[in-house]
Amino acid sequence: MREADTGGAPDGAAFGEALFDEAERLSPDALRALQLTRLRASLRHAYDHVPFYREAFDRAGVHPHDCRSLGDLARFPFTVKDDLRAQYPFGMFAVPRERVRRIHASSGTTGLPTVVGYTERDLSVWADVVARSLHAAGGRPGHTVHIAYGYGLFTGGLGAHYGAERLGCTVVPASGGMTARQVRIIQDFSPDVIMVTPSYMLTLLDECERQGIDPRTTSLKVGVFGAEPWTQEMRREIEKRFAIDAVDIYGLSEVMGPGVAQECVETKDGPHIWEDHFYPEVVDPLTGEVLPDGAHGELVFTSLTKEAMPVIRYRTRDLTRLLPGTARPAFRRMEKITGRCDDMIILRGVNLFPAQVEEIVLRTPGVAPHFQLRLTREGRMDQLTVRAEARPGATPDQRTAAAGLIARSVKDGIGVSVSVEIVAPETLERSVGKIKRIVDARYRDKA
Ligand code: DLL
Repeated sequence: MREADTGGAPDGAAFGEALFDEAERLSPDALRALQLTRLRASLRHAYDHVPFYREAFDRAGVHPHDCRSLGDLARFPFTVKDDLRAQYPFGMFAVPRERVRRIHASSGTTGLPTVVGYTERDLSVWADVVARSLHAAGGRPGHTVHIAYGYGLFTGGLGAHYGAERLGCTVVPASGGMTARQVRIIQDFSPDVIMVTPSYMLTLLDECERQGIDPRTTSLKVGVFGAEPWTQEMRREIEKRFAIDAVDIYGLSEVMGPGVAQECVETKDGPHIWEDHFYPEVVDPLTGEVLPDGAHGELVFTSLTKEAMPVIRYRTRDLTRLLPGTARPAFRRMEKITGRCDDMIILRGVNLFPAQVEEIVLRTPGVAPHFQLRLTREGRMDQLTVRAEARPGATPDQRTAAAGLIARSVKDGIGVSVSVEIVAPETLERSVGKIKRIVDARYRDKA
């Protein structure tokens, strides 16, 4: 049996020995009490040390001492990405600059990057939650962990790195890119675990095959995939082609980085949110109203222990719902993210997410797991073309059948007509980090 393949019932108690730390054993009441104490401290810290929060709370007519129960958090104002941008670079910091040990930034597609900072204690908490995440994924002390998330201002590489070291693993800090070398390192260093974006894992898959290596024969047992949406179909594809367990890691730089939530390998039923440090709410994206657990909406986080840059009710733009804990009963889970508010394409009135198309493309015979969505405009009508890549060796008839099947599945499943183009193998651009699925050519000048 593979070491990470713990299998069995989705009953947290059955995994008692497999728990990483005391927080995973908290009772619901003890967790709520801890959250309230930390929440009150966090609100006070933000109010006392960040002028932005003081002004926002004052404007909303609330004060940290108004928070007497977790439900009172709903009275406090939201924070959005533009608020952080307006404070560029360090205006959101709640500690003197000399206490900030590290800075990261998320590039974003437009405008200024969002800058985040960490004190020494923040970095330690981050390493702890990533270590807990990696452990829940099946990683164990002594394992070798290949990290192919990018190192640098992006939180993926260094965040994963210090967590894996904290767990007691041997770290291979490969970073992103230089794909042929990544495959050679995997062959030579025999890692047990890989941490990488799911789309770059597919690039590594192609490269294995190019080098004549059967991906099922590598030493890898577990992949910890995140930083972008990926579907159950993608999980099946990666698990089958590499013969590994594929689990989901979630996070965002504004809240910490990777390790805000992690899926457990024994249940693979959506990431458990490490609620002792990050308090989740799900709100209606339009009205901001807090929704009950189980209802779909936008995920919002309040940091409970961060020193350098506390975030209060930060709107992630990620769409999901909160579910009860399973393998870690103390913590709620989030449903695997299906999309972001900003990734939603509204095509002739129908809402469509790239993940929905991913599911369809990955179930279609003759088509590789590489696709792109191209938006164009004809007259006043938006058109969407799904460009998917043929598997090597697919015949012209198979390609035509695949195009028809994808178009029909999108029409039946999502309710909108799209064009489908099956392109030759190896023609779509490969991911080296976070993949960009949507090419918006609607407002380009016609050549
Ligand atoms: O992507 C942090 C991270 C690194 C998470 C490595 C996991 C692994 P940002 O660059 O700030 O931080 O981007 C955050 O990425 O709001 C989601 O939209 C998306 N995202 C992150 N993890 C997942 C996931 C990192 N598991 C944004 N599933 C988030 C779906 C994810 N989307």
